[in-house]
Amino acid sequence: MLKKKNKYVVAVAGATGAVGREMVEILEQRKFPVSDLVLLASERSEGERVEFNGRNVVVRRLAKDSFKDVDIALFSAGAERSLEFAPAAVKSGAVVIDNSSAFRMDPKVPLVVPEVNADAITGHAGIIANPNCSTIGMVVALKPIHDAAVIKRVVVTTFQSVSGTGKKAMDELAQQTVSLLNFRDVETNVYPHQIAFNCLPHIDAFLDNGYTREEMKMANETKKIMADESIRVTATAVRVPVFRCHSESVNIETGKKISANDVRAVLAAAPGIIVYDDPRKNLYPLAIDVAGKDEIYVGRIREDESIPNGVNLWIVSDNLRKGAALNAVQIAELLIK
Ligand SMILES: NC(=O)c1ccc[n+]([C@@H]2O[C@H](COP(=O)([O-])OP(=O)(O)OC[C@H]3O[C@@H](n4cnc5c(N)ncnc54)[C@H](OP(=O)(O)O)[C@@H]3O)[C@@H](O)[C@H]2O)c1
Repeated sequence: MLKKKNKYVVAVAGATGAVGREMVEILEQRKFPVSDLVLLASERSEGERVEFNGRNVVVRRLAKDSFKDVDIALFSAGAERSLEFAPAAVKSGAVVIDNSSAFRMDPKVPLVVPEVNADAITGHAGIIANPNCSTIGMVVALKPIHDAAVIKRVVVTTFQSVSGTGKKAMDELAQQTVSLLNFRDVETNVYPHQIAFNCLPHIDAFLDNGYTREEMKMANETKKIMADESIRVTATAVRVPVFRCHSESVNIETGKKISANDVRAVLAAAPGIIVYDDPRKNLYPLAIDVAGKDEIYVGRIREDESIPNGVNLWIVSDNLRKGAALNAVQIAELLIK
């Protein structure tokens, strides 16, 4: 359990990655009460400097003894590192907020999106999990609709940016784009196919049921966060040549009839959501506009005319912020409240 203090020693494991860098920035932007910041990464980054609150913090190599005196450890260095080092951090007395998939479905580990299930953190035993980036964006919008009209089934197709894979994938999209525009051959290292000027219906590994692991994460994590095993979710996760922000087309079937106007009203009143929906003026959420924003943006709100009780939404959220780093820092804010 976290002892209440005026300021906290915070560690970021994976501090040099796409999410880790965003975590450092968000701790500073939200004025999180940090007495000391411990930045950890692989031996490749040892000695690198990252600016925080006007000073340079030296990156150290992640090790089991990195967590002495650390109060809160934000992990964002991949599931293998979380499995190896998070228990050591907890043993040293830190509370771990883990961004990887390592502990998300562990029944002893709360899976938290503060706008949806903030109360779940009270049950933690040292580790709190941050959900998958495409799940977070979706459940923030599902929760108020579920409260108003009881969601029965969700059909979602995602359009996920390359930053969701990390910094190497962002470099690969940039390099492939430059190569193709210069009539050169592309190199493919991160994804199984060229991502520039292409869409890949393939995120994470394929499972025996024909879905990918990413698609099953959206189904399983949604039930856990919403604390409702009866919600049926079927997902198709697609990687698109966009640098930042995940977009999602979401079809929702509800138990009770809810009009598009009522959906607009409940979403507009809910925390963490901006309704941006004026198609006649060509206004709907776009990845390029939502990049760097904290809220999830919802537009194209309309009734599904093919079923009695259904609505369609277009959701865009910044995968590095609300989908990862911001949600983790919000969990840390709940911990110190
Ligand atoms: N990107 C997203 O939108 C997103 C969203 C939700 C969750 N996540 C999760 O967050 C984690 C990080 O994702 P990312 O996108 O930030 O990846 P990334 O850009 O590839 O960064 C990975 C980070 O982990 C560090 N790391 C890798 N191997 C290590 C090792 N053996 N020991 C210590 N540190 C090591 C890297 O350090 P070096 O720089 O030294 O290599 C880097 O700081 C993953 O678990 C991912 O699933 C990502």
